[in-house]
Amino acid sequence: MTTVGTSPHPRPTQRPRLTFPAGFRWGTATAAYQIEGAAREHGRGPSIWDTFSRLPGKVRNGDTGDIAADHYHRVPQDVALMKDLGVTDYRFSIAWPRVQPTGRGPGVRAGLDFYRRLTDELRDAGIRPVATLYHWDLPQELEDAGGWPRRETAERFAEYAALVGEALGDRIATWTTLNEPWCAAFLGYAEGVHAPGRTDPAAALRAAHHLNLAHGGAVRALRAVLPSTAEISLTLNLHAVRALTDSEADRDAARRVDALGNRLFLDPVFHGRLPDDLCADTASLTDWSFVREGDLTVTSSPVDSLGINYYAPTIVASGTHPSPSPWPGAERHARFVQPSGPRTAMDWPVDAEGLYELLTRLRDELPGVPLVITENGAAYDDYADPEGNVHDPERVAYLHEHLAAVHRALAAGVDVRGYFLWSLLDNFEWAYGYGKRFGIVHVDFASQRRTPKDSARWYAETIARNSLPPRG
Ligand code: FCB
Repeated sequence: MTTVGTSPHPRPTQRPRLTFPAGFRWGTATAAYQIEGAAREHGRGPSIWDTFSRLPGKVRNGDTGDIAADHYHRVPQDVALMKDLGVTDYRFSIAWPRVQPTGRGPGVRAGLDFYRRLTDELRDAGIRPVATLYHWDLPQELEDAGGWPRRETAERFAEYAALVGEALGDRIATWTTLNEPWCAAFLGYAEGVHAPGRTDPAAALRAAHHLNLAHGGAVRALRAVLPSTAEISLTLNLHAVRALTDSEADRDAARRVDALGNRLFLDPVFHGRLPDDLCADTASLTDWSFVREGDLTVTSSPVDSLGINYYAPTIVASGTHPSPSPWPGAERHARFVQPSGPRTAMDWPVDAEGLYELLTRLRDELPGVPLVITENGAAYDDYADPEGNVHDPERVAYLHEHLAAVHRALAAGVDVRGYFLWSLLDNFEWAYGYGKRFGIVHVDFASQRRTPKDSARWYAETIARNSLPPRG
């Protein structure tokens, strides 16, 4: 691994700059439904988020992704913004219903052409495309046929992966199968706060397995059609789980949350097994007989790296979680504790130590697997002032702390290859609608005007120097 440096001769009073390894990948991340808009153009079919966002009370303010940041019509402008930032990589997702409107059958030419246009612009700007195949926009027809709790959905996903890999494999070298399957399964099918909005804990556990199976099937399908140099990955929102106290009850609560939030995905994908304690914890909900012979060989098809999305730690104590809960089998044993200290506009605690804990844990548990931070960032109540500036010092501080944690992890021998800031643009923040702004570029949704925030300038400088400036 390359060395992690500090500048060689800092003046005595000056703190050193934290330098990242040569070749460190600096990116921004987005997702199709959150930015593209053009929901009905060129044959795009409805996804579960088109349906869900229209259900009364599900998304704040009744917002939908119909127009979003209108990225579909503004690709050159948005790629130019990234060129100004100097990013080396751009992580975006491909909208399944734009490419295969019903989740079956041949690809739609216009949909694939959109991603050809995007990747052409990226190539011309010298930015490497990193494509995610599934960032939560399941074609509605597949949900109507049973959704992720149904095994067939995993088969459809592998077919879709092959179709996209064949069509775009000449221009995209880095692929991610799924984004955050924990959210898709448990927020979507157990708690019901994300699409499709079901509240059936047993179905959510099936969904989780079928998402793992979909991932493995897609890895195989992509390997069959992509050049051997292609990099294939999976992005998990791993939970930096901490027990509130050292009591046995708190530690048991943390173990249950770790099983559902982390090991339910890490074990099938990297070790070809399901966590025994999780099967025992959920025995009253399911006997797991939907896991068929050979499935865990498919789920553990080798990947080239692991993507990690991190925002805040998860502090767990013994107790009960209100129903409906995204923690099947743990809801009567665990409750979640909000620490004191600074919070973002999402009410999420600001705690970069959790990222360091996760990275060093993965160094020990998954030796030899390169890691990439595929999302990290923060929402604040930003606004453009009359001079057209957006001052967001809290975001700059958040990013600084988290990148310093990544740097510390590198120094501790963690193989982190890159960092993708969530997000390039303010966008449709799922159940929160447009009220939560994660972008380093402000979007005025009425005029679609883009204004880089102070954090954008800070990020550009960090990338240009491949190092974090010293802080106060
Ligand atoms: C992650 C999602 C991403 C965005 C951020 C804030 O869970 O992957 O789409 O909403 O949270």
